[in-house]
Amino acid sequence: MKKLAPSILSADFSKLAEEVAAIERGGADLIHVDVMDGHFVPNITYGPVVMKSLLGKTGLPFDVHLMIENPDAFLEDFMTPNTEYITVHQEACTHLNRTIQHIKSLGAKAGVSINPATTLATLDYVLEDVDMVLIMSVNPGFGGQKFIPSALDKIRALDEIRKDEGLNFEIEIDGGANLDNVQEIAAAGTDIIVAGSAVFKTADIEETAKQFISKIR
Ligand code: DX5
Ligand code: ZN
Repeated sequence: MKKLAPSILSADFSKLAEEVAAIERGGADLIHVDVMDGHFVPNITYGPVVMKSLLGKTGLPFDVHLMIENPDAFLEDFMTPNTEYITVHQEACTHLNRTIQHIKSLGAKAGVSINPATTLATLDYVLEDVDMVLIMSVNPGFGGQKFIPSALDKIRALDEIRKDEGLNFEIEIDGGANLDNVQEIAAAGTDIIVAGSAVFKTADIEETAKQFISKIR
């Protein structure tokens, strides 16, 4: 079953718990948590403190997307009872295999992400070890950017590799998803769709989440 992971990057942080409750009522599957450090990407967002403020306020699992350098130093901080996925960037990891094993040893599913200009081949030697691959469909750093269409070719190619090699990692896409393109994104072989502004910057967040889900299932 395909999953919707709204990104709280585009939420109103003065009423974060309320808006998260709305996506939960709307049927969202995961809360996508965008962590940026101002080094790996040209923006700073939030860290474990903000994420942990949602503990006890939502039953939704966390899908943590670390857009940070040296992620190994911070993995423990993001492990909570709600944490399901921790994703690091291939471009930020010198010893990617080690980082993947580290995430798994903490009890989370290990995701690896690649930027729009990074080739799938950079993941050849880790596909057997990962639980999820996150294909960036914008250059990471900001919500509300335009979808980069070549991400769909990457998804299709990755889905082929997955079938050919009999692997069962999930495929996630992140950036620029909206109600107009989400069906095409899902049809390309995507399992988890992140949507930030297209969910949270709407008048009725719960209803928008429902509309997304009706288009992907
Ligand atoms: C981009 C982040 C995305 C982003 C998605 O750097 O990783 O998760 O917030 O936002 P939209 O859906 O608005 O592109
Ligand atoms: Zn993200």
